[in-house]
Amino acid sequence: MNLDQEIARRRTFGIISHPDAGKTTLTEKLLLFGGAIQKAGAVKSSKIKDHARSDWMEIEKQRGISVATSVMGFNYDGTRINLLDTPGHQDFAEDTYRTLTAVDSVIMVIDCVKGVESQTEKLMEVCRMRDTPVMCFINKLDREGRDPFDLLDEVEAKLAIRVRPLSWPIGMGKGFKGVYNLVDKSLYLFTPSKQTVEEGIAISDISSSTVDDLIGENNAKQLRADVELIEGVYPEFDVKQYLSGETAPVFFGSAVNNFGVRELLENFIDIAPAPIQRKTDTRVVKPEENKFSGFIFKIHANMDPKHRNRIAFLRVCSGKFERGNSYYHVRQNKAFRFSNATAFMAQDRETIDEAFPGDIVGIYDTGNLKIGDTLTEGEKMIYTGIPSFSPEIFKEVINKDAMKTKQLEKGLHQLMEEGVAQLFTYELGNRKVVGTVGALQFEVIQFRLKNEYNATVEFSSQNIHKACWISSRDPKKLHEFTESKTRHIARDKDDKLVFMAESKAWLQMVQDNFPDIEFHYTSEF
Ligand code: G4P
Repeated sequence: MNLDQEIARRRTFGIISHPDAGKTTLTEKLLLFGGAIQKAGAVKSSKIKDHARSDWMEIEKQRGISVATSVMGFNYDGTRINLLDTPGHQDFAEDTYRTLTAVDSVIMVIDCVKGVESQTEKLMEVCRMRDTPVMCFINKLDREGRDPFDLLDEVEAKLAIRVRPLSWPIGMGKGFKGVYNLVDKSLYLFTPSKQTVEEGIAISDISSSTVDDLIGENNAKQLRADVELIEGVYPEFDVKQYLSGETAPVFFGSAVNNFGVRELLENFIDIAPAPIQRKTDTRVVKPEENKFSGFIFKIHANMDPKHRNRIAFLRVCSGKFERGNSYYHVRQNKAFRFSNATAFMAQDRETIDEAFPGDIVGIYDTGNLKIGDTLTEGEKMIYTGIPSFSPEIFKEVINKDAMKTKQLEKGLHQLMEEGVAQLFTYELGNRKVVGTVGALQFEVIQFRLKNEYNATVEFSSQNIHKACWISSRDPKKLHEFTESKTRHIARDKDDKLVFMAESKAWLQMVQDNFPDIEFHYTSEF
């Protein structure tokens, strides 16, 4: 196969959902179809249940599990599918945001009983920043859920994306009869707890009496009315609008019953994008370019504290990655040889010799790589679109063991490179403040600093509302601003200037008073 064919047959995507909507169950069913696993129960949930909030050992265990399920590669009907896992727990949202930078499209799972939930809203915001194509799977139709039209309205209103149903449910809960596929015009009948996949029954004319025979008169009447309404209300499905992130095609099913999953997968393969072009700071790179390039979107620390090596996750963006070749590390301005690259298959990691755009390669690293790094065959360019977002919780790091200051610095530095949290160092007094999305990370950081670096820290809460990256067209004005607000100015890990705003109202006031300063909520602007 040549490079173009390898690219065309690849689909790299992530599943996003609010915890408990059915992401793990759907993942597992997809893997079963791909023959990547043999039986149900093989995929461990990467979610951390709420009761484990104070139990950080559980987090450590989950970290171990989540390496194995970080990327699940499998083949289906000649298509190479790379499914990137995203942590379910909201405290790890930053990790999820970064993983979403490495996918080409997304499947969003929504629980038909609960509708659109908060976590899905946040994740969709990230998808929208990059116009990522989204396909929607409305799950748990075997439960009494909300009216499907209401659900679709809610998706449109809360997620700011247009929807177009491509299948439609017949009944719900106990009365769930199956779905009508609006694309191939066939009925798929549901039998509770039957895991085998039924073939669709072609229905050329929905008004035919066969429909009444199959699903009963009342259901048939309702279905005809629903389909008429759908065709009247929703414009015809336009794949271009899906690919540009404007319209989400919607499927209905029940993951745990393996119902509707194959249709989802097959439609996904048909219309989801193959690896797409990506932006760098100098130009747009097309996947079919001959020269290899890619970027690191995730770093995973080794579980064994005695060995500090880590796994860096590289997304191949163009050309062919070959094991044993040396590649140019743009940030460090030197060449590295990666002889131990591994591919991620559903269950194991295996050494690979080559990888193509859309593939994720695992690289064992001893500290040379960090999130956002670009590797090329020599070209100086950096992939953009892997920003940090302003954290929500801020705490100052208090060193409890002055003898271990060096270890603490090193530990903090490495944990930040892994993306566990963000570190802000104040210009005044060198105070170090850690910012995170959730409370769990502080326990993780404290534990890992002690365990891996022998450093003892405590955290003291800070009254900070947001960290805003600041810039100005006029360097003099920027200087004046930082001089007048010295106590609130810090630097992020890349030495970028950050304004630590104490409250929303105060931030607004400062923004009004300094119109020449731009305030950004993400590190890339
Ligand atoms: P998540 O990864 O999005 O957090 O969700 P997960 O797949 O773990 O599913 C959450 C719960 O919802 C699980 O039940 C799962 O069995 C159930 N579920 C998934 N799909 C369906 C469906 O189509 N219908 C129904 N009725 N339930 C579904 P659990 O009790 O939390 O766990 P388990 O003991 O069943 O594994």
